[in-house]
Amino acid sequence: MSRERTQAVPAFIDLAAQREHLGDGVERAISTVLKHGQFILGPEVQELELQLASFCGARHCISCANGTDALLLTLMAEGIGKGDAVFVPAFTFVATVEAAVLSGATPVFVDVRPDSFNLDVASLEEAIGEARKRGLKPRCVIAVDLYGQPADYKAIGEIAAAHGLLVVADAAQSFGASLDDKKVGTLASYTATSFYPSKPLGCYGDGGAIFTDDDTKAMRLHALRNHGKGPGRPDTEYLGLNSRLDSIQAAILLEKLRLFPGEIAARQATADRYNAGLASVAKVPQLMAGATSVWAQYTIVTGRRDALAKACHEAGVPTAIHYASALNCLPPYREMPAGPTGLRQSEWLTERVISLPMHPYLSVEAQDFIIATVRQALTSAKPGVAHAAE
Ligand SMILES: Cc1ncc(COP(=O)(O)O)c(C=O)c1O
Repeated sequence: MSRERTQAVPAFIDLAAQREHLGDGVERAISTVLKHGQFILGPEVQELELQLASFCGARHCISCANGTDALLLTLMAEGIGKGDAVFVPAFTFVATVEAAVLSGATPVFVDVRPDSFNLDVASLEEAIGEARKRGLKPRCVIAVDLYGQPADYKAIGEIAAAHGLLVVADAAQSFGASLDDKKVGTLASYTATSFYPSKPLGCYGDGGAIFTDDDTKAMRLHALRNHGKGPGRPDTEYLGLNSRLDSIQAAILLEKLRLFPGEIAARQATADRYNAGLASVAKVPQLMAGATSVWAQYTIVTGRRDALAKACHEAGVPTAIHYASALNCLPPYREMPAGPTGLRQSEWLTERVISLPMHPYLSVEAQDFIIATVRQALTSAKPGVAHAAE
């Protein structure tokens, strides 16, 4: 497949380069589905669920239509709804809070740490107090593994245990990563992930999955994703959703899963090169001790973001902002509660984060060009090193 390359770095996430590496396996896999005709929950879906569970070491994998549903289905399986508080970070993709609201519960925002970008446990404790003050029942914390690095599940688990909270991992960005040698998928009671095309493991449409070790809840999730009717059951037992994975998407994911371990290693090598080249001019991402990341995003923090974005654009280097607004600043969520100290780190980060191209097929030459462009932009502008919000 030949592609026109019109700018220095052709894509922020280069899915076309990955297609070239996949060869004709994807076409053959799709053609098999076209022949057998079981387009929804067909044999590829079951095979994918088995392979994903074995990849991460979870007892069960229940695939579904997307990562947002994966979160919502989890809350539904636990009967979480009206009067319940679900704690979510304010600095994440909007789907995390959306799922909490759609369940009928009240989201309570928690601030994040400026070093890992993940949930701050001191802020979580405050938010739990605030929920109680408002007469809400603290039920669940959704910890997000932002940019591909797991949250601090040990610290979160201790607080959750003390307050009787369920821990759900929003691993839409982190499937494939690990913490203390345990893979994402096994770090919380439930793990929800997304196979959106640009995710580290993405399909060619929407897709998602839930991982759990709980046999009973796994059976319920199988039913909930299919209008409340479990496999082999004669009737609808629960209020459910239509959230099934297409066999074609599962077939594509099975092909991509073969490349995934090598792709994770390539992402890490790129992150290492970026870190070495950029640490002296910007705040580069930090991993917690014992954590690995799949680098869904490589995001730096700088007080000169606008100048950097402009210079990158002019040099032909695509960049992106994840995320330009804290969730508590977005219209549907402005009235949602948070702890008394507020969400200062989240709001501070929204003005300073900028993500650089990151994918497994980014050449060393492209990486070096990106590093040189960023260095040049940040050393020629006036100083403004990014410290965390006071
Ligand atoms: C942190 C986070 N949570 C949830 C989702 C939702 O996934 P999906 O787009 O598959 O619904 C995403 C996807 O972008 C995400 O980044």
